Amino acid sequence: MSKALEPAGPSDGVNRWGLVDLFAGCGGASAGFLATGAFDHLWAADNDRWAAATYEKNLGHEVATVDLLEVAESSADVWAAGIRARHRGPICLVGGPPCQGFSSHVKVRGDSRGRNTLYGAFVTLAIALEPEVVVIENVPDLFATRNWELFADARSRLSDAGYRVRARILNFAEFGVPQERFRAVVIASRADHPEVRFPAPTHAQGAFSSVQEWIGELSPVASGEVAEDDAMHQASRHSKATLEIIRQVPADGGNRPIGVGPECLDRTRTSHGGYTDVYGRLAWQTTAPTITARCRTPSCGRFIHPEQHRGLTAREAALLQTFPSNWHFVGPFDDRFKQIGNAVPPLAARRIAEAVLSGGSHSEAGVVEIGDEPIGSSFSVLIPGIRRRGGRLAEGN
Ligand SMILES: C[S@@+](CC[C@H](N)C(=O)[O-])C[C@H]1O[C@@H](n2cnc3c(N)ncnc32)[C@H](O)[C@@H]1O
Repeated sequence: MSKALEPAGPSDGVNRWGLVDLFAGCGGASAGFLATGAFDHLWAADNDRWAAATYEKNLGHEVATVDLLEVAESSADVWAAGIRARHRGPICLVGGPPCQGFSSHVKVRGDSRGRNTLYGAFVTLAIALEPEVVVIENVPDLFATRNWELFADARSRLSDAGYRVRARILNFAEFGVPQERFRAVVIASRADHPEVRFPAPTHAQGAFSSVQEWIGELSPVASGEVAEDDAMHQASRHSKATLEIIRQVPADGGNRPIGVGPECLDRTRTSHGGYTDVYGRLAWQTTAPTITARCRTPSCGRFIHPEQHRGLTAREAALLQTFPSNWHFVGPFDDRFKQIGNAVPPLAARRIAEAVLSGGSHSEAGVVEIGDEPIGSSFSVLIPGIRRRGGRLAEGN
């Protein structure tokens, strides 16, 4: 086994939980699990060197920068044995495998069950490791028609390996994250372990955490400036034309007025009623929209500061993702936003971790429980209906 695959550091846990994080990114999921104080870090991997460096800097644990597809294909059993040999307590395997579906490349390689996809690789590693609990986080379109085969095959492979598998779409705003962030979450519990339930909601619609609560206290910075006391609080330098548009967007939740900015945006807005978020401002008293890798760019969504004339800084984006206020993102300017936008919000991860620890019976958060059918062609078209129904996909969910 290569050095990068060797688990680092001792683990004395007999009864303590061990944490293995695959596709670990900058560590959002791990940060939440480790914050409970009940998990020992066992192993984390990601093939992005900047994300791995951020993980290491803030969490103090080494990240193996390996291609997990290769690990799954060539050494899953050796890898699993190495981890099992050094931890006697229960293990929770978490991961956010990118879901690229069945590409033509995969078809050429001839695996009809998706094992050659990153999602399939994650399941291969899970089955080799046999952790007590497996948690997968992904975009909601994991359950859409085009990805259904990928999900359904993963579910049946885990079931065949003795896991009870449940899948839901959650809105992380229900856990206090100041964002409307819908995500697919799969929780699989090994048959000889108590079944893990989804966490209980802590915040109801109408009482979600607000933008003001999380970024209202930060010092103002102008386009192109960086705060003296925080290198992460740095705003993009916008062009003159962009600044001209931004200045005309009303403060605190305003939309780009018709006639301001590119004409094509007006055409799509009037003919399809769409793109109202483009060049929109965040509102102080509500949640932010989903924070993405593009949130420093006003033309990519509702990402303009409620009052200041600029897109979000990495610090603001990270706080809206519930990272601690001193978290440092390593790497080039744009890469910091990629790491932040990709991450599981640590607060949501913490709630999931607590559910892993507690088991028990409680009401479970969630927009919908996934059954035997895909949710449709795309999740985004369902969002307006979900909002109307108080956060659920259908009555009674
Ligand atoms: C959605 S992000 C995971 C975010 C992470 N769970 C968090 O909370 O910060 C997916 C990650 O998969 C990594 N990745 C993509 N392909 C990979 C591969 N073949 N091997 C290892 N990691 C890979 C990307 O670099 C990215 O950081």
